[in-house]
Amino acid sequence: MSEVRELKEGLPSRARYHGVLNASHRAFLRAIGLSDAAIDRPLGCVVVSWSEAGPCNFHTLGLVGHVKAGMEAAGVTGLAVPTLVVNDNISMGTEGMRYSLVSRDLIADTIEAQVQAHAFDGLVGIGGCDKTQPGIMMAMVRLNLPSVYVYGGSAEPGYLGDRKLTIEDVYESIGAYVSGKISEEELMEIERHAHPTVGTCAGLFTANTMASLSEALGIALLGSSTPVATSSRRAMYCYLSGKALGHLIETGIKARDVVTYDALYNATVLLMAMGGSTNGILHLLAIAHEAGVSFTLRDIDEISRKVPYIVSMRPAGQYVMADLDAVGGVPLVLRKLLERGYLRGEALTVTGKTLAESLREYRFVDIPHDHVVKDPANPIKPTGGIRILWGSLAPEGAVLKVAATGIERFEGRARPFDDEDSAFEAIRRNEIQPGDVVVIRYVGPKGAPGMPEMLRVTAAIVGAGLGDSVAMVTDGRFSGATRGMMVGHVAPEAAAGGPIAVVEEGDRVLIDAREGRIELLVDRAELERRMKGWKPRPPRARTGLLAKYAALVQSASKGAVTSPGPSG
Ligand code: FES
Repeated sequence: MSEVRELKEGLPSRARYHGVLNASHRAFLRAIGLSDAAIDRPLGCVVVSWSEAGPCNFHTLGLVGHVKAGMEAAGVTGLAVPTLVVNDNISMGTEGMRYSLVSRDLIADTIEAQVQAHAFDGLVGIGGCDKTQPGIMMAMVRLNLPSVYVYGGSAEPGYLGDRKLTIEDVYESIGAYVSGKISEEELMEIERHAHPTVGTCAGLFTANTMASLSEALGIALLGSSTPVATSSRRAMYCYLSGKALGHLIETGIKARDVVTYDALYNATVLLMAMGGSTNGILHLLAIAHEAGVSFTLRDIDEISRKVPYIVSMRPAGQYVMADLDAVGGVPLVLRKLLERGYLRGEALTVTGKTLAESLREYRFVDIPHDHVVKDPANPIKPTGGIRILWGSLAPEGAVLKVAATGIERFEGRARPFDDEDSAFEAIRRNEIQPGDVVVIRYVGPKGAPGMPEMLRVTAAIVGAGLGDSVAMVTDGRFSGATRGMMVGHVAPEAAAGGPIAVVEEGDRVLIDAREGRIELLVDRAELERRMKGWKPRPPRARTGLLAKYAALVQSASKGAVTSPGPSG
């Protein structure tokens, strides 16, 4: 008996659909049109995050056929199943945003349920927007089946005259309008032009960050993350991803063979080199947790201190995903990092080859790229785009996107708010002044619940011209589109009794990016007195999904996960 045949015998679909006693299961496959030959082949799942409720995954259903064709060419029968989508920027700044991070784990759960219930032998996941991507990757390592991730692609940038636009411009223009800096007509023109096609937000916000990281993790094909959603190269990468799954099933390479410590290390190196979204930290921790890999904020901190920031992309820099694609995409960045010794080239990828081998074989085109991707020897900044902070205000850690601010040290006066709306209204009423540190708490994983992004507030700060003179600290999250001195993921969160809960109006707060510190500058005895007096608040959600989530979710410093992970 050949090795492939032996492997096939061990596939989940064999036990479910083969043998006389499985006639009833086969009858249902025949009912959907499968032939004897199709039933005999391994069964591949095409997980598609699809939704018409926004542009990010509007088009992804059209990509399914290409993945199935690739699977077919590799001798695998492909069947598609859906997973859900929460479009972040449509829910942003509303109660709906509380469902965004919640949806990540729900997506992983829906994939687990469908793949396990129907005995698939492997999966290709198509994702877009912020949470579908980590949710799909979490499911892949949780299930530990042969798996390939493929991105649905970002939107093309918008143009207003010569000005290149992304959704970030709309948010900041709202802030500018609210503070009287631009007219309603100007705001409307920006709104009309900012996001001109289907696909995810065009800058290096969370969706494009996670897509880029999928290449460094080795779970996606090199070059597959940067073509825009409207490019015909999307179809090609979907076809090739389906085909790659056939090879993985045949060779028995599973998701946890690919997503190892080294792969997570490489993804973090890329995150730092690109100055990607702080959400990338949360999601990498969650993927590590689901894979059973010990990979912590300490590992991330160590990497961030030695990897240079070399890619100029919005919001920190100038360019968008389409620009990176034009100069060589993520493989160009990875090649530079590998050449300078920053990557662990021996990590396995979904091609069955190592990252170093895959990069050697990748077809690079020699075109000028220094305006987008610098050489690591001549970086934009000598250390990574995100810094992990610890201190009396965040004993379990917090994150700061240093790429998005020119300020390395900030000391200011605390202005605490217990929700996003109150902070936004204070900015609108011009009550926030230079030197203030806006503290938004009780918006963490348990507290909100769902750890919403504070983009409306951060954009209002920038839009009001306070981006260089006001800092923000929160136990919530930030959008990848956030700019300025913004510290998020403060842990423990206020709802879990973290020190952020006892910050008082006028307290001094110190944020030091160089030293990796965030301190509440009140003396120890006073802090202890306040902590003793703190009482938990009644939960904000008492029923339904949010209540269930609040009961299960762990600290942001551990990826805000809700499942026990492979070790239980
Ligand atoms: Fe989906 Fe920005 S709202 S990527």
